[in-house]
Amino acid sequence: MTTETGRSYHNTSSVYCLPNDTAEQDRLDMQSSAIKSTLEGRVTLAPLPPNPSKILDIGCGTGHASLDIARQYPSAQVYGLDITPVPERAVSQAPPNLHFLTGNIFDVDPTALAGTHEGGEPSSLATALQPYTFTHVFARMIFMGMNDWPGLISRACSLLVPGGYLELQELDSWFSDASGAHIEPPFEEAISTAVQERGIDFRAGSHAAERLRAAGFVDVEVHRRPWIIKALPGEPESEMTRYVSRAMPAMVEEFLRKLVLPQADRWGGEDVVQQWLSGAKDGDIFSIPGSHADYFVTIGRKPES
Ligand SMILES: C[S@@+](CC[C@H](N)C(=O)[O-])C[C@H]1O[C@@H](n2cnc3c(N)ncnc32)[C@H](O)[C@@H]1O
Repeated sequence: MTTETGRSYHNTSSVYCLPNDTAEQDRLDMQSSAIKSTLEGRVTLAPLPPNPSKILDIGCGTGHASLDIARQYPSAQVYGLDITPVPERAVSQAPPNLHFLTGNIFDVDPTALAGTHEGGEPSSLATALQPYTFTHVFARMIFMGMNDWPGLISRACSLLVPGGYLELQELDSWFSDASGAHIEPPFEEAISTAVQERGIDFRAGSHAAERLRAAGFVDVEVHRRPWIIKALPGEPESEMTRYVSRAMPAMVEEFLRKLVLPQADRWGGEDVVQQWLSGAKDGDIFSIPGSHADYFVTIGRKPES
């Protein structure tokens, strides 16, 4: 764990740059609940058999989705994996079929699957993550920690039984108005350059289907849902709209502070970036009615042979 400007961060080799403190855990819980309401109360859209046997939630965060999945599928042993230990409040609520693991998915060897990892018991990842044993591998909103999607998908594929499902739920960080016209914040190029240099894909949602097909997954299906950032006049506010208006401005500021401020010289100097930072919460993506980004649920089936 490292600490900066009063916030704490993971201290692993993952490219993930968001904090992991209580404030961030509260945000993740709010986001989790808002995503679930966007999906009409469901966490997973995968067409799972009634009694799946083993499910993995990669980058489980505060364990919200893992908890829901474990309750929905009591037949399954459910594993929630994250580089940061899940908060005690999730551990204490876990039913007996839910197991939380601390580790980096990229430390799992995709062929031997005998991983070492940062923190926790070295043997637990390798014991839990046996190849060809999972009915379902699920990952939601992990794009900020992913700099090798083909590597992640290949690890997931190794874990799945033939016929098992990989489900990726990711947002495209690309904002449009109600007509579909792109809304470009003044710092867009700076943020997108910084994430590209880390190998992060801000369009991981819409790229997921082609990635699953390229890895050999079949019956790939995509469900797209808008995240409405600012409701149109007269339209009711959704849980998602309330969540993004409360939490997203601070997150944009955090990206700017963490990713762009250290490179300020490239973008006109520290004063320019500080100005972006102080104006981020009043930017067009938060004020233009109908402003939205797209959330993609992409599911593929591992072929039988
Ligand atoms: C934005 S959070 C989403 C959490 C959760 N999936 C959800 O939807 O509520 C992304 C999570 O991915 C985790 N993460 C990032 N890189 C990871 C990696 N390489 N292996 C495992 N977890 C990772 C982070 O620690 C963080 O908790």
